[in-house]
Amino acid sequence: MIMMRNKPPSVKSTTVTSLSGPSVADSLAESENTSFQPQIVWLRCVCLSVVVILVVGGITRLTGSGLSMVDWRPIAGILPPITENQWNEVFQMYQTSPEYQKVNKGMSLSDFKFIFFWEYLHRILGRIVGLLCLIPYVYFLVRGKLSPRMKAFGLTLIALVIVQGLMGWYMVKSGLVNNPEVSHYRLAAHLSLAFSVFGLAWWMMLSLRMGTPPARNPRARWVRPWVLGFLGLLCAQIAYGAFVSGMKAGYGYNTFPMMGDEWKPDALFGLTPYWKNFFEDKFSVQFIHRWMGTALTAGLLLLGWRAFKSGVLSKIQKVRMKWVLGLVGFQFLLGVSTILLILEYQVSLPVIHQLVALFLFAALLGLVHSLSGNPDRESD
Ligand code: HEM
Repeated sequence: MIMMRNKPPSVKSTTVTSLSGPSVADSLAESENTSFQPQIVWLRCVCLSVVVILVVGGITRLTGSGLSMVDWRPIAGILPPITENQWNEVFQMYQTSPEYQKVNKGMSLSDFKFIFFWEYLHRILGRIVGLLCLIPYVYFLVRGKLSPRMKAFGLTLIALVIVQGLMGWYMVKSGLVNNPEVSHYRLAAHLSLAFSVFGLAWWMMLSLRMGTPPARNPRARWVRPWVLGFLGLLCAQIAYGAFVSGMKAGYGYNTFPMMGDEWKPDALFGLTPYWKNFFEDKFSVQFIHRWMGTALTAGLLLLGWRAFKSGVLSKIQKVRMKWVLGLVGFQFLLGVSTILLILEYQVSLPVIHQLVALFLFAALLGLVHSLSGNPDRESD
């Protein structure tokens, strides 16, 4: 009797119940796997460090601090200037830069110290994120605590962080020229890489928490392609957000839903060749960002409503769907507030808008993860 009660669910019993609804998938997916606790803690720290650096990176850019350090010394640059002489030296270097000459001429040393602080902090945090990925990875690797899949993911994570560092410098370099504005393409690449680092660490963490993937919930099969499609749209929306930000396209047409008195001002989409409007005409880019964000929000809300109405979601999928819906609604309101109030809140609103984009990305990845399960076990 006792033995029978303690018997783990067999593949057969899993199959039978999973076909009749989401309950087995629920119980498997929700029983958190604790055998990988140290690795889970590691990946949570990586995610948290990306959140912190994203906020600091946003402040650095929005306070116009990103071009205050005109060289890149990965090792020697760890120590900040301390003595008065050292400060004068870095300030003199900055004074030769186009940004000082054209934008900040006459800036005082104490104002320079402020912008230097943000860029310095951002670069130090970048090194910390790198070490946080590398050192625990090597530790777990040496102790044989990583599956082949996790080894490959971890290596990709480290490679992404290295590429991110190089991309950061490549981006800064684009602003150290005659026109002291960083390329919005490079800004978008830098932001996308930050999201990729976060996304990969987050996905690894979700997988470790889940342990052996449960069977895929067959009744919710139709939801997954939609969610994947919206994830793709969200990635495009994030890249467009970086375009808007990088081109300062949020400063103009500060009304919603209309742009001024028109739905689509005539001045938009006027570049030739036409495709350039999608990438290089700042107010066309703002137009695309505002309507793509609206479509994303409406689409996700509709999908959520249909999925809840049809009752196909498992318990964990319901929880994750609710996070997605709450966050996308909040993000939409933040986007609208940003366009309306950016002149008053030039730093705080864009930083929060960017941060919530990351949370939404995390929530959508979580939903995809919970919908993925193990397709091989779906028809056991
Ligand atoms: C709902 C989905 C949305 C997502 C995921 C999203 C995401 C983003 C991201 C990642 C940025 C870059 C932030 C930065 O680098 O500072 C951004 C910027 C911006 N977004 Fe959105 N956005 C959304 C909706 C909207 C909407 C509906 C509007 C306006 C109606 C809007 C207006 C803006 C503006 C004005 C900026 C530029 C802020 C700056 O100058 O830094 N967003 N968005």
